[in-house]
Amino acid sequence: MKLATKAIHLWQQPDPTTGSIIPPLYLTSTYVQEKPGLHKWYEYTRSGNPNFTNVEATLAGLEGGDYALLFSSGLWATTTIILWLLQAWDKVIAIDDMYGGTFRLLNNVFAKYGIIFEQIDMDNEILLENKLQEKAVKLLWIESPTNPLLKQTDLTRVLTLTQKHHVIGVVDNTFATPYFQQPLAVWADIVLHSTTKYLGGHSDVIGGAIVTNNKEYFSQLSYHRNAAGINPSPFDARLLSRSLKTLAVRMKQHDENAKHIVSLLENHPLIKQLYYPWFGGMISVELTLSLQDTMDFISNLTLFRLAESLWWVESLIEHPASMTHASIPETIRQAQWLSNGLIRVSVGVEDKEDLAQDIITWLKKYH
Ligand SMILES: Cc1ncc(COP(=O)(O)O)c(C=O)c1O
Repeated sequence: MKLATKAIHLWQQPDPTTGSIIPPLYLTSTYVQEKPGLHKWYEYTRSGNPNFTNVEATLAGLEGGDYALLFSSGLWATTTIILWLLQAWDKVIAIDDMYGGTFRLLNNVFAKYGIIFEQIDMDNEILLENKLQEKAVKLLWIESPTNPLLKQTDLTRVLTLTQKHHVIGVVDNTFATPYFQQPLAVWADIVLHSTTKYLGGHSDVIGGAIVTNNKEYFSQLSYHRNAAGINPSPFDARLLSRSLKTLAVRMKQHDENAKHIVSLLENHPLIKQLYYPWFGGMISVELTLSLQDTMDFISNLTLFRLAESLWWVESLIEHPASMTHASIPETIRQAQWLSNGLIRVSVGVEDKEDLAQDIITWLKKYH
């Protein structure tokens, strides 16, 4: 089965009691047991709910994994991996461009618990291999493409090295989604998603997920999801299940629309630098305008809403240095080439000509 078919049919059987084609919403906190311990698999929604199982099974299938787990946010999925697979004085090596919230968590929060964090250029093969040989290094964190500079990493090359050195390889696949890339197939140990983004796709859910083939990691993370109470609500899981069905058509349209906009912008005189990984709906650009004019530009577009987050049916635009990546100190942002003038565009699934016209009309004001 191809991904578009799996997204609609995998583990989506009609409800056997009513024939309802869409799985019912199980808004229940607990489940009646026949005798103590004798139940129909579920005991308490913190540890499991049919709406979680339904999405987890589909998501595992889309990523080509054996197990998936939903969380109440992408950052809780990240927290669970770091806090419960690592110990004090273990070290995380991460790519040198990443979502500001993940940076804040790894750099500011986990430091309190003795987790050491370092970012490196993953294209520097000698440096990477040296780091992976350090005794303390237990986990490698990759975003590809990265947020916000859309850098791509050769996952096969890097994950082959993590396997060789017995380092846990985690790929945040939020940007690419399984539509464009399935990291488990090239030796990732764990794939992470902020399901808030393309998987949710409709600006109405905050959620996270992990997918893995490793039973031991799954058991540990599942145990801790229950122990810490970081499950999503059944309603959010249900919304996510609805959204996954249209993942393929949405991704196709995001991709087509973004390519159209890139083709109009790449030689535009007001574009100083354009970042696009040649797939998906994300584009980052630096304009030749002053910071003030750049801020005016992003605040005044008609169809592109100025808002944090991305990857939704609505087109969005934002300024990473003051919004999504403000938690990264300016010196580190500058060292990683994240300039104050950078803007990040999330191209939605509206009509591509309307979107292009919105941008081009507003750019004319400055040219
Ligand atoms: C690449 C990436 N990973 C993880 C997260 C965190 O997800 P959440 O906001 O669902 O906690 C984000 C949020 O923007 C993100 O962009």
